[in-house]
Amino acid sequence: MRVLITGASGQLGQSLLMQKNHPHELIAFSKTQLDITDTDKLNTILEESKPDVVINLAAYTAVDQAETNIDAAFAVNAEAVKNIAKITNSHQIPIIHLSTDYVFSGDKELPYLETDIPNPINVYGKSKLAGEIAIREYNPMHIIVRSSWVFSAIGKNFLKTILRLTQEKKEISIVNDQIGGPTCADDLASFLILLLNQLKQFSDTDWGVYHYCGTPYVSWFEFAQEIINQLNSKSRIISISSQQYAGAARRPANSRLNMEKAQVRFAIPSINWRYKLKQLVVPAPINMS
Ligand SMILES: NC(=O)c1ccc[n+]([C@@H]2O[C@H](COP(=O)([O-])OP(=O)(O)OC[C@H]3O[C@@H](n4cnc5c(N)ncnc54)[C@H](OP(=O)(O)O)[C@@H]3O)[C@@H](O)[C@H]2O)c1
Repeated sequence: MRVLITGASGQLGQSLLMQKNHPHELIAFSKTQLDITDTDKLNTILEESKPDVVINLAAYTAVDQAETNIDAAFAVNAEAVKNIAKITNSHQIPIIHLSTDYVFSGDKELPYLETDIPNPINVYGKSKLAGEIAIREYNPMHIIVRSSWVFSAIGKNFLKTILRLTQEKKEISIVNDQIGGPTCADDLASFLILLLNQLKQFSDTDWGVYHYCGTPYVSWFEFAQEIINQLNSKSRIISISSQQYAGAARRPANSRLNMEKAQVRFAIPSINWRYKLKQLVVPAPINMS
């Protein structure tokens, strides 16, 4: 399949481009090559490249900054997504779109199902939910993949922040009261390839929302602790509450996504994020003295 990818220089975009052993032609556009808020350019590029499917990975992902840059977040995550949905629909091609655990409030006791009603508590989540709603409204041939806590060796993410902080600090304070499923970008990218492999066989009931995240569920504190352990770092992780963390955006306490729907439909196992973390983190030599 010819696959047009937007936001291709982000961490998921890069992970997708690194996937091997698939028959698809990936036509990648960075923000500089295709700003998705530019509707005319979107139209032209779609006309010219004639893809079989669009994967939209472009997003305004700065969660704290979104609280003050509300228009910018909505322009990319909602308005531009609406345009992509309309344009792809007018060309009768499907769209695969990425969304987030942050569309939920985090008040639920159990992991979130695709059928749970979203109720975001920060601007980023609200803008991503507006994007989801637009896609559903304007292109029935859509797959929305909601994921959480994506990490990789590329771009900005929690793993890279912790690795940097271990170089700078002896003690690192991390929140202990938000729980979710860390997801390796490489695993998520291979799920996108699996979707592409099966897209031609999709029936009407296959379109819709799928959750995809790593297990086991942990707090950010436990995630950081695991990184430190694998690294053999001497830095100490201090457990703090969300109230003690000075971020501008509120974050859901429960970010756990239930991915049984995807597991059943695509016959995939649960994914242990610790396995991929081990491959990404190079331990410091043990000091024998
Ligand atoms: N990271 C996570 O933990 C996480 C969790 C759940 C869901 N997601 C979703 O997964 C998707 C991919 O996220 P990611 O982790 O790969 O984020 P990322 O590394 O921030 O990548 C997003 C990319 O979109 C680009 N972009 C921003 N505005 C754009 C515009 N107007 N036109 C075209 N491109 C634009 C960014 O370019 P610049 O960097 O130059 O601005 C960046 O290359 C997003 O939809 C995100 O909401 C991410």
